[in-house]
Formats: sequence, C-alpha cells, structure tokens
Amino acid sequence: MSNASLDRVHVLLGVGGGIAAYKAAELVRRLRDAGAEVRVVMTENATRFVGAVTFQALSGNPVRSSLWDESAEAAMSHIELARWADEVIIAPASADLIARLAHGFAGDLLSTLVLTTAAPVSVAPAMNQQMWAHPATQANVERLRQRKVRVLGPAAGSQACGETGEGRLLEVDELIAALVAARGPRSLDGLRVLVSAGPTYEDIDPVRFIGNRSSGKMGFAVAAAAAQAGAEVRLIAGPVSLSTPAGVERIDVRSARQMRDAVIAAAADADIFISAAAVGDYRPETTAPTKLKKSGKALALELIQNPDILAEVGQSAQPPFLVGFAAETNDLEHYARGKLERKRLDMIAANQVGEAQGFECGENALLLIWSGGSEQLALADKRVLAQSLVERIAERYRATRPVVVSA
Ligand code: CTP
Repeated sequence: MSNASLDRVHVLLGVGGGIAAYKAAELVRRLRDAGAEVRVVMTENATRFVGAVTFQALSGNPVRSSLWDESAEAAMSHIELARWADEVIIAPASADLIARLAHGFAGDLLSTLVLTTAAPVSVAPAMNQQMWAHPATQANVERLRQRKVRVLGPAAGSQACGETGEGRLLEVDELIAALVAARGPRSLDGLRVLVSAGPTYEDIDPVRFIGNRSSGKMGFAVAAAAAQAGAEVRLIAGPVSLSTPAGVERIDVRSARQMRDAVIAAAADADIFISAAAVGDYRPETTAPTKLKKSGKALALELIQNPDILAEVGQSAQPPFLVGFAAETNDLEHYARGKLERKRLDMIAANQVGEAQGFECGENALLLIWSGGSEQLALADKRVLAQSLVERIAERYRATRPVVVSA
C-alpha cells in the first residue's frame, strides 16, 4: 500500500512560452501519478509551442489561457481557480514571464492568478543561458525569492538553442521532488493508521437486523484526513453507503464480531487505531435461520453483549496509540473521561448527540481529552473537523511515543 506524495493536492500548473513547454506535458502526467489534481493555465505564447488540447487530455480538465473566455469564466471564475489551488507551479517560466511576475503585472490570466492566489508559488525558469545570467533577470528572480516564491532550478547543460550553460528546465522528476520537499513533511508520514467506521448490524433473521444511526461519515473523513497526512490507512467499515477515500485500503464488515476480527487482525501492525465505529453493544443471542413469523403474541428478543473491540485492543501487550469516540446525550465530559481510563485510551473524542449534530449529519463538534489536557474543536464540517482531529492525534502521538530512528 503506498500513499501518493501529492495525494489530492490541487496543483495549478502555469505553462509559459518556451521550447521547454513540451516538458510540462510530462509534468502533468507525473503530478497526477503522484495523486495531484491538475488544472493548466497557459500563457498566450505557450499555446504557440504546445496545443491546449494536449494539456486538456493529460490533466482531464479544461485548459485556460485568457481572462476573456466567457464560457470558462462561467464554469470556474479566475478567482475561484486561484482559491482552488493548493499549489501554483509555473514551468517553464520564461524571462518575460518572470519579469512580469516580479513586478506584479496582471495583464493576462496567469499573472492575475499569481496575484490572486493565497497558495505557495513555485517558478521553474527555462531560457537561454545569456538571458538567465542577465542582471535584469537575476534581479527579477531575487525579487521573487524575497517574496517567498520558490525558484526551482534552472539546471545547467546543453540548450535547445545550441548553447551550453545554466537555463535548462529541471527534469520532471526533480520538479516533483522539489515540490514535495517544499511542502514539508506531513504529520503522519511513515505511520500506519487503522480506522473503524460506521454502524454494525446484528441479524435477527435473514431479513431483519438491529442497527444504529451512524452514517460512517466521521470515520471516513478521519480515514481520508489520515491518508492526506501521509499515513498508510486501513479502514474497517460497517454497512454504509460511502465511497472509499483515495489511498485508503477498505475492509467491509457487517456485525460487531466481524468488525472485532478484522480490527484485531489489523491492530497488530498499526501505529494508531482510531475507533470511530458505532459498534452495537448487544446482539440477539440467536439468529433465526428463516424469517420469523408473526405469532399474535409479544416477541421477546434475548440480547447478549458484543465484545468491546477497543477495550480488547487496549489490553494487548503493545497496543497502538488508541483513540476512542464517545457519543453522549448528557454528562459528556464525565462519561468521556471514564471511557478514556476504562479502555486505556491515549485520547478520546467526545461529541454530544442529539439536536443538529452527531449522527446522520455533515457537521460535528468534538471535545478531545487525553491524560493531562483537553481541547474543544468547534462545530464544523466533518471533513474539516477530521483534519483538525488528525493533526491533534499526530501531535499527541509524537509527544508520547519514542521516535525510532532506523540505522
Ligand atoms: N467500542 C468498541 N466496541 C464496542 C463498543 C464500543 O470498540 N463493543 C468503541 C467505539 O468505537 C468508541 C468507544 O468504544 O470508540 C466508545 O464506545 P461506547 O459504546 O460509547 O462506550 P461504552 O463503553 O460501550 O459505554 P456506553 O455504551 O455505556 O456509553
């Protein structure tokens, strides 16, 4: 299982005019291989070197080159495009484009986007070696650096114009490596995270079951956020109708006992276990092999207790870092602290259920408690909340587990 280094990162690739523009086509492919979503903006000059159709086919998205394309503006305005971007990379960047960026011009779509975006901007220069060495270009590049624009390259070598010197576009591999390195390490890089999510169903007979109102959204959002933070994620999912987050390995189960077996098998080589599943505490003592018929009398179901999966993982010899959830209608903090201790957890994420929060909705708020501290995460979209939760888990994990440095 590998987790792509630019998983779901929105990359806006600006292609400048220059013979190296053809290399940007390969860059699009490799960015996508690394997990990124790519949108391409070309300068007017770039379109003279490579056709927009090439970039459109490779990126899977429409390519833009003008501020005045009404249909494209209607689909996604340049402001939205600037906001969409997590990263802007300009490759190749010509001397003219660098000059315009250095001076804050906004006469075309690409330079306008660079002024509008809040995303980090990387520039990969490619030009004749004399142009690169010229004090005007060097001064412009220096200006960009001072503004925290990352300047990637250029490399030295033989040039398309027949000369030799500094001014070649970095190789595509080097551009990607530079981009990944510039983004910095992610909080769960190198860690294996196990997540349980969703409800469990306990069968009464072949057509009826006992379940609960968990949608699985929170657990799935946690799995997605952990993958995005660099972890190798395994997700044990109860019966839910949600699609598997990118880069996540999913195992579907139905009953609490099936979930227990899957979790116990996977917990042995997990660094962190986040138990977000709403495991049914009870199941019918027997499951009828055929459909139960009405008898005209009251029907009593004998329920017996299910295994407590999280508590069982907590009792293993070397448990992973354990995060439990507590959904409570009342006395939230009191019950959550009790579960933290009883189940030997490293952290518990407690949420109030009822009203417009908790089950079956897109928003939630969480009270995080660990031994020695607590933090309230305010009501937010479950995906946003999951990202905050994962960051706190990573911090607590690093604070409590010794760092193993391999030789
Ligand atoms: N959990 C579990 N297996 C169970 C029940 C719960 O792994 N059979 C996990 C849940 O995934 C959650 C945490 O334990 O992370 C809290 O579960 P909860 O059922 O709320 O706590 P209980 O200890 O069962 O307490 P109560 O039902 O009395 O609230």
